[in-house]
Amino acid sequence: MGRRQELEKRQTLLSRFGRLIAAETRLDALLTIIAEEVRHIVNADRCSVFLVDMYKGELWTKVALGMEEKILRIPMGQGIAGFVAKTGSAVNIRDAYRDTRFTQDLDRITGYQTRSVLAVPLKGREGRAVGVFEVLNKGKGAFTDEDEGLLRILATMAASFIENATLYEDLRRSHLETIYRMALVAEFRDQKDTGRHLRRMSRFSGILASAMGMTYQEAEDIRYASPLHDIGKVAIPDAILRKPGKLEPDEFEEMKRHTIYGSQMLVNAESRLLRLAAKIAIAHHEHFDGSGYPYALKGDQIAIEARIVSVADVFDALVSKRVYKGAWTVEDAKTYIRGQEGKLFDPAVIDCLFKSFEDIIAAMEEENRRILEDEAFKSNFPEPSAKPVDQHPHI
Ligand code: C2E
Ligand code: SIN
Ligand code: SIN
Ligand code: FE
Repeated sequence: MGRRQELEKRQTLLSRFGRLIAAETRLDALLTIIAEEVRHIVNADRCSVFLVDMYKGELWTKVALGMEEKILRIPMGQGIAGFVAKTGSAVNIRDAYRDTRFTQDLDRITGYQTRSVLAVPLKGREGRAVGVFEVLNKGKGAFTDEDEGLLRILATMAASFIENATLYEDLRRSHLETIYRMALVAEFRDQKDTGRHLRRMSRFSGILASAMGMTYQEAEDIRYASPLHDIGKVAIPDAILRKPGKLEPDEFEEMKRHTIYGSQMLVNAESRLLRLAAKIAIAHHEHFDGSGYPYALKGDQIAIEARIVSVADVFDALVSKRVYKGAWTVEDAKTYIRGQEGKLFDPAVIDCLFKSFEDIIAAMEEENRRILEDEAFKSNFPEPSAKPVDQHPHI
């Protein structure tokens, strides 16, 4: 290929690269596109994108192991990528195994054999390295200065997109976490535990939504919005909420208002998830046959999301211990719910509950394991006692 043609080809590849990365805002997909394009453009066998995790002082990257994807982490300063991230300078070596900076750790895990390596820093807005582009095993011979120049251009092009996608991802996560913690406030007052019922009913709701044929995004939305269904309980007096025995009729009337209080707290939100949460809060105690509250809606007058959450909520409430009742066995809960098909619950949702029952139980067991881990975490925060402490617990 002539010099001119080569330059033209390169320009085409660069503008394609620019177009592709500008079109993707999800970090995960962005990293995959970048790795694939860069590998192709510099004619390398592999490309890894490492990102700096400032809090942990580590670099992480995703590697494909057979069918699976795994996150690998290396300490800052270690290995070639760690060196590049720490010093901000590029590395170009012909034979990795003869370079003392190369640790072979990744090769050992992936079974890959690295020969030539070219790595350049990804510089963020403030000039700090936010990550490293690393290409491995040049098609023929070693990577040239020209390859290095090219990789630097690609890194410059990609850096701000990666930074933006990372910020967006952080924002999305903190939004989800804030929603969850809001729900925890209400739950904490009710059950004095931290999220046991919320985590499980949220997982069940997501599973049921998928089984109902909703898209992944819709099911995820239901999963993340559902923990707020009982947020209105924060407005219910303790004497009712925490009453160890059966509620008097007037007390139950007040208790029923948690659906209205919750939707009043959430209504007209800008966030899609909070609007969905409002829809769920108002209708999660409506019954399919019209015998529920607060509006005695019937059948498909009740939002489908609420019909789903209602099954998830009651199933988990039954198998949980409450101030006013003991925990039922899974079998008893199943029998009860089957008996309420078409009465309390939408038969289509009950169908899905039984079709996906194995997944439900697996999710329940997984969350129970997580809760045990969290209990161990909570023991970091003992009740204050006469015993003097010399420092705060680690947060
Ligand atoms: P929750 O404890 O989260 O229960 C949610 C729903 O699960 C209940 O909605 C009900 O449909 C179902 N459920 C829970 N436990 C039982 C049970 O032992 N038997 C049957 N058949 N169903 C059960 P519901 O009844 O509309 O109650 C809404 C909320 O009102 C409950 O939320 C709870 O906070 C409160 N509540 C209901 N009954 C009593 C009670 O007798 N004493 C007290 N202290 N609170 C109650
Ligand atoms: C949380 O569980 O703390 C937040 C919600 C999530 O991302 O799972
Ligand atoms: C938490 O996320 O703070 C605790 C959750 C749990 O105990 O289930
Ligand atoms: Fe409720």
